[in-house]
Amino acid sequence: MAFLQYIIMIYTNIQQLDTTKDFIIPCKKGELKSIQQFLPIENPDFDGSFSTHQLLYGTTGNRIYVVGLGEDKNAAQLENTFYKFAFETQKYWGEEIQFFADGLNDEAILKSVIGLEMAQYSIGEFKSTKEDKKISTTISFSSEKKIDTILEEGKFTGETINRIKALVDAPPNIKTPEYLGEWAKKSAKKASYKCTVLHQKDLEKQGFDAVLAVGKGSINPPVVIINEYKAKKTDKIDIALVGKGITFDSGGLSIKPSTNLSYMKSDMGGAAVVLGVVELVAKLGLNINIVGIVASAENAVDANSYRPGDVINSYSGKTIEIIDTDAEGRLVLADGINFAIKKYNPEYIIDLATLTGSIVRTFGYAAAGMFTMNQEMANTMSAIGFKVHERVWQLPMFEDYEADLQSDVADIKNYNGKPIEGAINAAKFLESFTEKHEKWMHLDIAGVAFGSSPYAKMKSASGYGIQLITNFVKEKASK
Ligand code: BES
Ligand code: ZN
Ligand code: ZN
Repeated sequence: MAFLQYIIMIYTNIQQLDTTKDFIIPCKKGELKSIQQFLPIENPDFDGSFSTHQLLYGTTGNRIYVVGLGEDKNAAQLENTFYKFAFETQKYWGEEIQFFADGLNDEAILKSVIGLEMAQYSIGEFKSTKEDKKISTTISFSSEKKIDTILEEGKFTGETINRIKALVDAPPNIKTPEYLGEWAKKSAKKASYKCTVLHQKDLEKQGFDAVLAVGKGSINPPVVIINEYKAKKTDKIDIALVGKGITFDSGGLSIKPSTNLSYMKSDMGGAAVVLGVVELVAKLGLNINIVGIVASAENAVDANSYRPGDVINSYSGKTIEIIDTDAEGRLVLADGINFAIKKYNPEYIIDLATLTGSIVRTFGYAAAGMFTMNQEMANTMSAIGFKVHERVWQLPMFEDYEADLQSDVADIKNYNGKPIEGAINAAKFLESFTEKHEKWMHLDIAGVAFGSSPYAKMKSASGYGIQLITNFVKEKASK
């Protein structure tokens, strides 16, 4: 019988470690001496290497887990060591386990909690033969500093990562555009922000023609989700986030090959980041005004599907010649971005999308493609990317690429029809719907949103983007 164990993790702050009870003790590579006083033996089979751990038993038979933090260069992905550690050992934990946090800085404590929480994600939500067992474990962080708010931030962040992973891993027959709308509504109610869902009729009235065109071939109607979180007295929006929410990308009439087609359920990875970040920012109560916009549709094959050769309208009023119906993400985003700019005039606008196979061929699974004409924004995002190990790498937006957008019959075409510059061509297309906004950035996350991991047999959601974008928002939030 498949067995799912839900552990509800509670993180608390204690002053002193009780060494007669179970505890976790982090250790940097080669620094075993610094924790020697806590160990029952002098030479454990452990040297502090990154993502390793070793169980020792103390004098009362208590568990002492030494966990390897590795070297300084591993700090950016410290959550992975605690994710792995908790994933492998938590079934043996009791009601309480202590965590010696005195040797860790704030960032390391935050990352540790995120990792412990990430180990609570269970991918088997749709198995029929599961036995839910809810138990709760309190992890007591011993620290002389007051770290309650860090523990809370870590818990919220880990929870949000798990919630967006569940969305991305959810099957596309369940996760329809309307389902994403429902998810957002529920989240908004719980985390206290405003959520509006524009349904098909609203989209028709308001002229979201590109979203409607992509959704035409599906029995699951498209939606646009608008999440507003305003902590400031003013109405000015500091940051707008826009996400590609294709709940399944068959390619449409320009149909995709069937190999690994099931993975195209993850084509709403950008939308998931946007939904997650707004929820997390609201939970953290950051002092900022943000909106999250999700343009969601299913790209299906049907007699009603839009076709290659069609000329469609868009929210901006620009007409678009469809060269390939599989270049659908840039269409829904064109409407989402243009709407965000015209309706909210945000200071910053960032879109996230699993947009092109081209970016996967360029960077593999190691970085998202970053496109912007604003170098300051690029530098900020790049630095955050390294800090949280959700890296971005910039690609050019030269004017030279504009010729490839020109259509004979419409204002613009959705694909250059050539096997070159794929991700850049998509970014340039999006740029023409930004009304020359000076602080716009596009992140192509096709390679990083979904992939192999030690925690699943098939490819699955990574949770990429939550820490990256939340930290960007944090930097722009007033203290
Ligand atoms: N959803 C895909 C991009 C994608 C590919 C995401 C691989 C994740 C993994 C996108 O809609 C798409 O099909 N892009 C095409 C565009 C082309 C037809 C212009 C691509 O990149 O091949
Ligand atoms: Zn596509
Ligand atoms: Zn797509």
